[in-house]
Amino acid sequence: MLNLVLTVMWAGKEVNTMADGSSSLEARIRALDPWFHNMWLGGVETAPDHFLGDYPAFKWQRLAGALPADFSGRTVLDIGCNAGFYSLEMKRRGAERVLGIDSDPRYLRQAALAAEITGLQVELREMSVYDVGQLGESFDLVLFMGVLYHLRHPLLALDLISEHAVRDILVCQCLQRGESGPFEAAKNYPFHETTLFRQAAAPRMQFIEHSFADDPTNWWIPNAACVAAMLRSAGFNIEQKPDEDIYICRRAA
Ligand SMILES: C[S@@+](CC[C@H](N)C(=O)[O-])C[C@H]1O[C@@H](n2cnc3c(N)ncnc32)[C@H](O)[C@@H]1O
Repeated sequence: MLNLVLTVMWAGKEVNTMADGSSSLEARIRALDPWFHNMWLGGVETAPDHFLGDYPAFKWQRLAGALPADFSGRTVLDIGCNAGFYSLEMKRRGAERVLGIDSDPRYLRQAALAAEITGLQVELREMSVYDVGQLGESFDLVLFMGVLYHLRHPLLALDLISEHAVRDILVCQCLQRGESGPFEAAKNYPFHETTLFRQAAAPRMQFIEHSFADDPTNWWIPNAACVAAMLRSAGFNIEQKPDEDIYICRRAA
């Protein structure tokens, strides 16, 4: 059968439409531009010009070896799943159930298309991290990658994830800036303490009033000690750091 391909304009871009009116794979992917996750879907690259490079594949390469290779029988919650890169990787590792949630329906449409094309079954739901308690269940593994700094209430989110969502492991990744050297917090500081506030490696989180990296949803940018301290404060033990900004944690007993 002859597959006649017509070139049409879609959202200001050239895409291919099959002669029978159905959209080609490329057209369906381009119709959901821009993508934050770069993936190869049926031979089409979703975000070839990503400002971070091949993202999040290079991040996944650093994390992958630190997680169990076989997720058979386990459940995964991917908070802020975006186009589903990590959700699909968890499915590839045999997870029994993967639920991806995101507050942005456009990203969820990308994730649904990625799942369809790869033939991997993931559940997707439009939901904010602040509503994880409504799920009424906890998960063996919770991924919380690249979301913390997008929140106006980051510690509240960690508390809710700890209380409602994590049965065993939390993987948290966060944009970090500032000093990342070692820091040991005292059990208490006297009222007149001042040196703490001059130590660059002490836990700090910068509030961005307007925009960072052209993104007005980048509200808080912590340093490494701050991320670690917030995770501990929310009830997690940090067990591994496979990358400078990735924390593999377990719920403290
Ligand atoms: C920088 S992207 C990270 C995507 C993916 N987790 C990763 O690491 O590649 C941040 C994602 O968090 C989502 N997000 C932002 N605020 C959220 C919220 N309150 N609840 C759930 N998802 C949120 C965004 O829509 C976006 O998909």
